[in-house]
Amino acid sequence: MSTAVRTHHMWREIVEQPEAVRRTVEAHAGSESRKGLTEVAKLLADAERLVMVAHGASRHAALAGRAMLEAVAALPADVSFASEYRLRPLPPRPKTGFVFLSQSGETADTLAAMRETKARGAKVVAVSNVAASPLAREADYVVLTHAGAEVSVPATKSFTTQLAALFLIAVSVAHARGRLADEEQAGLIGELQRVPALMQEIIAANEAEKVAMALDQVRAVLFAGAGVNYAIAMEGALKLKEAARIPAEGFPLGEVRHGSLALLGADAASVIVGDTEGQEHTVEAIRAAGKVIVVGENGDLKVPKTIAPLAPLLTVVPLQMLAYHAGARRGLDVDRPPGLVKAV
Ligand code: F6R
Repeated sequence: MSTAVRTHHMWREIVEQPEAVRRTVEAHAGSESRKGLTEVAKLLADAERLVMVAHGASRHAALAGRAMLEAVAALPADVSFASEYRLRPLPPRPKTGFVFLSQSGETADTLAAMRETKARGAKVVAVSNVAASPLAREADYVVLTHAGAEVSVPATKSFTTQLAALFLIAVSVAHARGRLADEEQAGLIGELQRVPALMQEIIAANEAEKVAMALDQVRAVLFAGAGVNYAIAMEGALKLKEAARIPAEGFPLGEVRHGSLALLGADAASVIVGDTEGQEHTVEAIRAAGKVIVVGENGDLKVPKTIAPLAPLLTVVPLQMLAYHAGARRGLDVDRPPGLVKAV
C-alpha cells in the first residue's frame, strides 16, 4: 500500500468504519442502552409523518434513512436542506415528528432550524456524533452516533454510523407501532450486527484502488442509483467532488435519460449504484454513452448481500474508497478540499 494511503485521515477513517458501526450498534441495541432509543420510538410511534432536516452528507443519510423508515416502519418522511426548511416557517402540523441530523452538531442552519421548530412548540430529535454539541444538548431527544472524532472533511465513518442510527430508529419505531414482534426486531438488529464484518470484506478487497485508474483523465462523473441507492449515488458524487475535485452529480437512475445523458462521452464516466431492475433501457443507454463502473453484488466494485434497507451501509464504502484513490492518484490533499471546513 502506498504511503499516501497510510497517511491520510480519510483513509484511516474509512478503515475505522466497521469498528465505528459496531460501537454505535452496541451503544443503542443492548437491553440497558436501548432506553434512549425506546424514548425516541415512543415519541415517534404515533407520528403520521416525519420531517428530517440536514445538510451535505447528513442530508444524504436522512434520504437513505427515509427509505429505511418507510420500508421498516411504514412512516413516511420528508427530507429538507436546513437552509431551505428555514424559508418555510409553517406551524408544525400535528402528528409530525422532527429529526435534525448533524455529525458535528454545529452546522448553523441545522441548529437554527431545530431551534425555530422547538420555539414553535414541537419536540425534536437530534442525531449527532458530538454529545457536547449545541444540537445534541438542546434537542429533546438525542441519538448519538459513536464514530469517534472525524478529522477529514469528506465524511465517511460519521455517515455510516448515521445510517446505523437511522436503521435502529426505524426498527424501534416499527416495534413501538406494533409492526414488528420482539423476535423480528431482534432479527433485524442481528442483520445490522453483521454489517461491520461485511464492510471489512469490502475494505480488505480494496477493489477501488484499481478501478480508480479509470477516473484519471475524466472531466466529469455521473452517479446514478434507484430508490435508496439514489441517496448513495449523491453521496458517492459528493465524496468524489471533495476528495478528487472531479465534477460529479448523483441522479435517480430513471432520470438520467431525461437530460444528463447528453453530457456523457469518451471523457466522462458513470457509476451505477445497486439494483437496476426495471431500468435496463437506462443502463443500456449509459453503457452506450461511455465508461461505466458498476457497484453491486457482481459489479466492478463488489458489495456483499444484505437486506435492502441496510444496503446503503455497504454500497457507500467502495464509493468512499473510489473517491479517496481518485484524489490520491491526482496527488491531492484528500482531507482538506479547498474552501471547505468540517463544520459550517
Ligand atoms: C461531506 C461533508 C459535509 C457535511 C455537511 C453537514 O463529506 O462532510 O457535506 O456533511 O457540512 O455537516 P454536519 O453533519 O456536521 O451538519
